[in-house]
Amino acid sequence: MAAVDFEALRDDFPNLADGQPPLHYLDSAASTQKPACVIESIRHCYAHEYGPVHRGLYPLAENASENYEAARRTLARFINAGTTDQVVFTRSATEAINLVASGWAATHLQSGDEIWVSQMEHHSNFLPWQRVCNQRDARLRIIPVDDRGRLDLENAPELFGPRSRLIAISQMSNVLGTINPVREVVEHARRHDIPVLVDAAQSVGHMPVDVQELDCDFLVASAHKMCGPTGIGFLYGTSARLRETEPLLLGGGMVDEVGIDHSSWAEIPARFEAGSPNLAGAVGLATAVDYLSTIGLKAIEQRVRDLTDYAYQTLEAFDEVLLYGPETGNERGGILSFNIEGIHPHDVAQVAGEQGVAIRAGHHCCQPLMQRLGVSSTARASLNFYNNEQDISALADVINETVKLFGKR
Ligand code: ALA
Repeated sequence: MAAVDFEALRDDFPNLADGQPPLHYLDSAASTQKPACVIESIRHCYAHEYGPVHRGLYPLAENASENYEAARRTLARFINAGTTDQVVFTRSATEAINLVASGWAATHLQSGDEIWVSQMEHHSNFLPWQRVCNQRDARLRIIPVDDRGRLDLENAPELFGPRSRLIAISQMSNVLGTINPVREVVEHARRHDIPVLVDAAQSVGHMPVDVQELDCDFLVASAHKMCGPTGIGFLYGTSARLRETEPLLLGGGMVDEVGIDHSSWAEIPARFEAGSPNLAGAVGLATAVDYLSTIGLKAIEQRVRDLTDYAYQTLEAFDEVLLYGPETGNERGGILSFNIEGIHPHDVAQVAGEQGVAIRAGHHCCQPLMQRLGVSSTARASLNFYNNEQDISALADVINETVKLFGKR
């Protein structure tokens, strides 16, 4: 495999290449930058190939339908789905989780049943389960997180049991970067025939993800975190699980037959895609997938790991900095949450912003995890393959500056 010139790839991203003064974008866990090919594919779609999907018999409409389905095939291959119809386009990972919560969990849960999530879940992989459990008189149970921010599976054989109906777990924490041993969770789940939903929002553009190897029942992600456009994401489900799932949205394009008293749904995946499909979004997502695949997910994973090691060492060298989550290596993706003693993370992010360094501060939509860490918020730097060591040095300068500004040194 030829070595990838990651420094040269920065030029693919107009926001990074054009930036004057330079942009040190360390917020890819919130949303990634977009390569020119993705932007161009969306423009081209609207300018030259735009038509209604699955609704017309004239060439423009047929071509639009074909492009939409081709995008689904590209995505199915990317995650190694068994069949293309196991991929459902949604607005986002959040919508995909809500779809499973209201369409599968709500129809399968009974009083006294349990849904398991971990203490590091994003609110989007927490609140839909909390609500459906409350509605069904079921219990939301929490897989604990250890002091290093890793999933504590020591007692897993005793945790899951005959009343456990679903385990919903992120593959990579959006706060700690922890890469969770999803395969191990699935193995525990299989002993009790418990379906597993994987929130791959932070992982799928950063490491190879193979749904058949994971052996999960559902997997969700958002395009905008994998160099694709906003407003589109996807749900993968095994055919059996998808057929057990009721649609979230009812409307045009998702029916078999509609009568006054009763209607029946189209086959999967169409039954989950009511309304006019997001053609340009699907095309942009497929272009992003092709772009990432051409670089290679293993190369991307290694690049981010090297940058993460460097960032971890750089931050660890500051006496004032407290880092959360696992040490480097294969337990951590490119997300580093930290606090500077005695300084509010919003102040750190503010100083960073003024110096052209984009980081996020807050609870990162993970309040249960913040409670576990004993903090209300953290600062967070998150990396992608288009970052470089200068970005990390710029963050180090921010920390120095902030510490001085607030009189902590
Ligand atoms: N979930 C995204 C983040 O962690 C928005 O920033």
